[in-house]
Amino acid sequence: MRIDVVTIFPEYLAALDLSLIGKARETGLLQVAVHDLREFTHDRHRTVDDSPAGGGAGMVMRPEPWGEALDAVVTAGQAAQQGVPWLLVPSPSGQVFDQALAHRLAGQPWLAFACGRYEGIDERVIEDAAQRMPVLPVSLGDYVLNGGEVAVLAIVEAVARLLPGVVGNADSLVEESHEGGLLEYPVYTKPATWRGRDVPAVLQSGHHANIERWRHAERLRRTARRRPDLLAQWLGARDPEQVDAADRAVLVEEGWVLESGRFQQVSPPVAD
Ligand code: 6GU
Repeated sequence: MRIDVVTIFPEYLAALDLSLIGKARETGLLQVAVHDLREFTHDRHRTVDDSPAGGGAGMVMRPEPWGEALDAVVTAGQAAQQGVPWLLVPSPSGQVFDQALAHRLAGQPWLAFACGRYEGIDERVIEDAAQRMPVLPVSLGDYVLNGGEVAVLAIVEAVARLLPGVVGNADSLVEESHEGGLLEYPVYTKPATWRGRDVPAVLQSGHHANIERWRHAERLRRTARRRPDLLAQWLGARDPEQVDAADRAVLVEEGWVLESGRFQQVSPPVAD
């Protein structure tokens, strides 16, 4: 996979040299090119921003450097790649990035990121790019960051670890939070007792079927307590009759009951 990032803070992306992502770049599974937006300015001050049309607070990124930078990214990448990249534009007003989108992006050969700062990028840049390539405004969640760089780090890590060969043990990708629509079960290691707290007995029993059942129940319990929104989706995708007695028992303990043909939360989640 090829990844291009355009930013006014190229040093911010230095973290992509580290750990699994750095290794994937060394082995050639991932090619990352970071571009300094200011290289595409032509004035002495290398200006990338200006006041918002119509007035208001803050500054807006001017379209000219962005137009040139994205043209250069597409031209340079086309020497090595076919077609055009998907252009991701990190923004608090984008669609929320989730594991399903990470999987879709992992299936693409080429991603480009346009990191906005200040109040954002002149909208004409997005419209112009969208005439040549798919453009996706993406958000990490409902809070505001100063710019898109942190989002690029998060998205590249989430996507790259799904590429075959990046994570050593592919099994660890299957049993983890957000795969299968539930959060991950709690994990333990040695010692068997620490500060008076025991590793749950079932995990020391060697009884694999019981361990699987316990882990599934804990995923359900945790999702009910911490992410009732995800649990509602998980239940919504199932016929209530498919939810077995063991799951139903956990749900009842967590305040969810079957009423008028669907599971509903009848008491608030307990803290954990
Ligand atoms: Cl992708 N960008 C910015 N600036 N703020 C955010 C965000 C992105 N996601 C959440 N907040």
